This record gives sequence, C-alpha cells and structure tokens, in this order.
Amino acid sequence: MPQTNSTAINAATRLCAVFGSPIRHSASPAMHNAAFAELGLNWRYLAFEVEPKNLRAAIKGARAMNFAGINLTVPHKLLAVDMVDTLDASAKKWGAVNTILFGERGATGFNTDADAIATSVREDLQINLRGAKVLLLGAGGAGRTAALKLAAENVAELFLVNRTQSKANEIADEIKKQFPSVKIFVGFPKSKMDLVLNATSLGLKPDDASPLDEKLFSMKNTGAVYDMIYRPAETPLLAAAKKSGCRTANGLGMLLHQGAKAFEIWTGKTAPLAVMRRALEENVYGSAKS
Ligand code: ATR
Repeated sequence: MPQTNSTAINAATRLCAVFGSPIRHSASPAMHNAAFAELGLNWRYLAFEVEPKNLRAAIKGARAMNFAGINLTVPHKLLAVDMVDTLDASAKKWGAVNTILFGERGATGFNTDADAIATSVREDLQINLRGAKVLLLGAGGAGRTAALKLAAENVAELFLVNRTQSKANEIADEIKKQFPSVKIFVGFPKSKMDLVLNATSLGLKPDDASPLDEKLFSMKNTGAVYDMIYRPAETPLLAAAKKSGCRTANGLGMLLHQGAKAFEIWTGKTAPLAVMRRALEENVYGSAKS
C-alpha cells in the first residue's frame, strides 16, 4: 500500500510540485509524498498542468505562495533556465533546469537529471560509462543533457541519432569543443555498442513505433538498452531488446535518483531512497519489485 502521511494538512504545510504538460502520467507525487511521510514531514507534493506560455507566471506564483520548491518536466526544462534568479553549477553545466529551490536568494535552478542518468545506468544495467560505446537516440532537451553527461563520464565512443539531424550535429559540435577526448559521431555505428539509450519521446503513446530502426542498427549489436521512458514500463523498444536477449532498463531509476536529489535540495535531509523506489514501483507496476 502507498504510504500515507499522518501529519495533517494545515496552515504550516510546506508545498512542492511538478509543472509539466502533459502531467497526468507523473509518478513524482507518489514518490515524494511517500518520502515526506517516511520522514514525518508536514510537506506535500502536487502536480500541475502548466503550459509553456504560463510557465513564468506559474514559477512566480509558486514563489509568492511560499512553495518550498518545484520540479519541471517536459517541455519546461530549457525554458526555465531564463526564469530563475540564480543558476546552480549543475544547471549551468548541463544547460537545463529540472529543480527549483525557493529561498532568501530567490529562485535557484538546479539540474538533478544528468547525474541520475549515469547512476541509473550503472545500478540497473551494471554499465560503467567510462570507456563504454554508446548509441544515443534523441537530441531534444533530454537527449542533449544525456549526451553531455555521457561525454563528461568519458565514454569512449558516442553515436548520436535524431530525426532532425541538425540538432544532433549541434550537440556533436558542442561535445567536440567541451570534451575533445570523446569520439563523437552523428549516425548509426557499424560496430558493436555496449549501450543504446533512448532519449526520444517515442514510446510514450500507445501506438508509437520504436525509435530504433532495426534495419539501420540491429539489437544484436548491443549488450544493453536503456529507455528514459518509465510509463509504459515496457516500450516497444524495450520489448524488442528483451526479445533479442539484451539487458534492459526503463527510466524509473533515473526518475528515482533525480527525485532523491531534488528532495535533499528542498528539505536538507537525506532522501529515503528505498521508500521512494517502492512508491514508484507501486505507482508504475502496480506492486513493488524490491
Ligand atoms: P524532451 O525534453 O523530452 O527531450 P523534446 O526536446 O521535445 O523533449 O525532444 C523530443 C525528442 O524526441 C527529439 O529528439 C525528437 O526528435 P526531433 O528533434 O526530430 O523533433 C524525438 N521525437 C519526437 N517524436 C518523434 C517521432 N515521431 N519520430 C522520431 N523522433 C521523434
């Protein structure tokens, strides 16, 4: 059963929230509210459907109403960079904001996504990115953060594929400047990969195709596949990967680790990881796996 918070909602309740569009699929409220309950905090976490044109007003409103902090999800992470008073080093480094802390210094933007990708790939697929060969699908907001993080982790080879190739080219140019030791290519590899990572949004909708055209790159040429999507828990990409005998992981671990870091930024307390993981699993799979 999901954990319930025994502290009553009252005039002292602190609020956090996620802003996104669409937002109804989000498992973040389940994860954070379980964590607040575990620590006996009189805090609550909500989800708001916020359109991009209203994002600035929504952030300003949350601050005016003394929210503790907010998360941002699709399509707000790049837009929010220009909507905070201060950028933490993490947001400057990865060029996107997924967490805001409201404090005496106004709104501070953080990025807790990038580290979460590497942590989840290591935990869920037992892949150390240093020296790995990776094919990354997608060059939108999530793809850009993933590409920069993979390069910063010193992958040996990074192949970028995106429907709009110019966006992959731009990221490749940026990586060449920032991380000259990483071998970066735009297009499909001819050699074997350690990991295929999906950062496109293909797979979110029930009738979506797989983002990987197997005529151009066969699943047989990779040991593992990671999909940043966590709902549905098994996308067509992951189903095909499993069928080919690859190790697979969905984006639940990434959601967990970015959320745990955000929790610590807002509350100043150590995140109860196991409780948060269980809440996510119950929310997404209907029952806890761990
Ligand atoms: P996010 O913040 O989740 O990354 P985004 O910036 O809108 O969202 O990026 C969506 C990604 O999914 C992009 O890589 C996009 O490809 P384009 O850059 O060509 O738009 C990819 N994507 C979305 N729909 C797609 C589709 N039908 N076929 C292929 N790629 C798609």
